[in-house]
Amino acid sequence: MGSKMNGQFSRRNFLRGAGAAASIGMLSYADLAFSDMAMAAGDVITSSDAASSDLAHDEVYWRSIAAQYDVTADIANLENGYWGIMARPVQAVYRQMNEMVNRDNTFYERANDSRDEDRIMVRLADFLGVMPDELMMTRGATESLQLLIGGYNKLSPGDGVLYADLDYPAMKNAMRWLQKARGVEVINIDLPEPASREGFIGAYREAFDAHPHIKLVLLTHLNNLTGTIHPIAEIAGLARERGIDIILDAAHSVGQVALEIAGLGCDFIGINLHKWVGAPIGSGLIYIRRGRVPDIDPAMDATPPSDNIHNLVHTGTSNFAGRLSIPAALEFHESIGAANKEARLRYLRTLWVDAVREVDNIEILTPDDPTMYAALTSFRIRGRVTTADNNAIAARLRDEFGILTVRRTGPAKGDCVRVTPSIYNSPDDVLKLADALRVIAG
Ligand SMILES: Cc1ncc(COP(=O)(O)O)c(C=O)c1O
Repeated sequence: MGSKMNGQFSRRNFLRGAGAAASIGMLSYADLAFSDMAMAAGDVITSSDAASSDLAHDEVYWRSIAAQYDVTADIANLENGYWGIMARPVQAVYRQMNEMVNRDNTFYERANDSRDEDRIMVRLADFLGVMPDELMMTRGATESLQLLIGGYNKLSPGDGVLYADLDYPAMKNAMRWLQKARGVEVINIDLPEPASREGFIGAYREAFDAHPHIKLVLLTHLNNLTGTIHPIAEIAGLARERGIDIILDAAHSVGQVALEIAGLGCDFIGINLHKWVGAPIGSGLIYIRRGRVPDIDPAMDATPPSDNIHNLVHTGTSNFAGRLSIPAALEFHESIGAANKEARLRYLRTLWVDAVREVDNIEILTPDDPTMYAALTSFRIRGRVTTADNNAIAARLRDEFGILTVRRTGPAKGDCVRVTPSIYNSPDDVLKLADALRVIAG
């Protein structure tokens, strides 16, 4: 299990640290981004004491949040699964940091960058409930997960590795690549539809028992195809009993649902900050539980010690402005509150799902178990399972009804259409979708 944060790195201490640094003339740009954000957002984000479940349908509150986003009026955007729109105050910080980086050039970088990076890592560790030396910044979950899958060095020829139909396509390819690279047998399972906790846990148990040579499994926390949240802690327990390592794809769950990643029981995790945390595009993370870094190959020019997580990737010249804006994105996210955001997203999802329940040829691909869905939920019109069918449905929703969704390919039972509201969407947006679906499915 990953180590939990100790009090030393609580957010309050981070802020106190920033103040202390400022008073002795050491205020870093990471701190400035943070306090600019507080100023920019201070009078517009009203935190609420209401329970998340009550706040979820407080339209006055959510309109005040939506007002912090500039969103195209050309379409009702229900395709927020690709990346997240930055809130306006976060964009303001990003713009400022970009101007600073371009004005100060290496005068900034040579003097401040590593100190800023250290402070951002402390902030991120606090956010995720882990230690700073368990995290490394990347350009996104693809980079994180490909580094973990490609670099995992405990496989021997003849070992088994496992992935499922609902994993992300690029990561399935990476798992298949291991056959050539490490001489392993690649095993692929289809997860049951309709989805259920027991069904998912049972599918992994069966695969682990049928293939005792499995040493590594790729799991996805909240999959991008149907939107189902997988029972990771339970599957991780089964894996641990059998000595199987897990690489977890948490690209969609961090920020979409409130969680402490250490509680998932996975030692290697790939994370996105540009989907649901609202950081600039190009922001991702690798988490590796303390003590496990040597199990991932270092970059070719890494220098000892081998347990330094920063040895895993050599990005070279980075998007400094993007990184410096991460604290602002976290501040905006936490001003709303992770649990409140999750509750609102689930409310919007359930509004449209409930509104099409009586349409009997629409299949909803996330179950109603509230532990198994958040914003993202796909549907299929019964019998329409090809890519062409589902491209046509998404095109009709866009062209005839002004609603943006996307076709997804990957579930064993066929293609589907993915619907992903974000916190700036209104109930009207999702109810408009339900009306359109009644027409299309009818
Ligand atoms: C489940 C999942 N994993 C990984 C990724 C890759 O994320 P990125 O393209 O931001 O690197 C995505 C992107 O949509 C995803 O949905």
